[in-house]
Amino acid sequence: MRSVIDILDLSVEELDELVACAKDIIANPSKYAHKCAGKKLATLFFEPSTRTRLSFEAAMYELGGNVLSMSDAKSSSAAKGESVADTAKTISCYADIIAMRHPKEGAPLVASMNASVPVINAGDGGHNHPTQTLADLLTISREKGRFDNITVGLCGDLKFGRTVHSLISALSRYENVKFVLISPEELKLPSYVKKDIIQKNNLEYVQTTDLESVMPELDILYMTRVQRERFFNEEDYLRLKDSYILTPEKLETAKKDLCIMHPLPRVNEISVAVDEDPRACYFDQVLNGKYMRMALILKLLEVK
Ligand code: NCD
Repeated sequence: MRSVIDILDLSVEELDELVACAKDIIANPSKYAHKCAGKKLATLFFEPSTRTRLSFEAAMYELGGNVLSMSDAKSSSAAKGESVADTAKTISCYADIIAMRHPKEGAPLVASMNASVPVINAGDGGHNHPTQTLADLLTISREKGRFDNITVGLCGDLKFGRTVHSLISALSRYENVKFVLISPEELKLPSYVKKDIIQKNNLEYVQTTDLESVMPELDILYMTRVQRERFFNEEDYLRLKDSYILTPEKLETAKKDLCIMHPLPRVNEISVAVDEDPRACYFDQVLNGKYMRMALILKLLEVK
């Protein structure tokens, strides 16, 4: 029985396998329509979500399975003080697989140590978000056809943005990936990602506060939302929230085949005028997330 808590829980070969499976699902959806008949996915979300929870649920329905959904922690026994460990043991009695989002870093790991079914981390605090990375990887594969020899700009809240941490971890294992880290001073990448992933693997990177000066060199621009819910005070959030706003004008110096990504939800980081640009890939990421979650559910349930 395997869980996926960190993107590094999956080998490079397994990532390739998941991407290939997702592409096969896209090409032949009917082949997969009953693969999970009789199986149940429980979604336990202790934090707000639109895409992650609903795409997990859509994924399980499209595999012919069923879903038990807990979208509001206030209506669960967590509100009475139940531990994550006890919740995980309990849900294991009802479901074959669990997707959990939690505001506390490490909560899905604790759940996986206590559950008797696979647990998938659907986002833990400001730490990791491996299944968003799966969506991102399928998008990069479909747009660029490769994960190596790319310059990836990550822009916005690199401190609290869990999607950024997981994406850097995943891409750190490919050849000749260069990271351009664009953020305000206060929202720089945490040292555990910079030291333990980027520097440890001798990856090329630059840090800057200026998006426009690095625009021409980017193959991928990954915009992120300033993570309001992780701030200690509202004043800091208000000061930093509009640090970067991507507009058609700012894209004038960008490569013709730039891939513009964002895990969504967007607040102000990308002006809606950019949506018309053929380089905008963020709504493709949404759809790709569903296919990759289908592939991951099949893998963890060991469905052939
Ligand atoms: C992200 C998240 O929850 O970390 N959203 C998502 O799952 N697509 C990004 C965010 O909330 O900013």
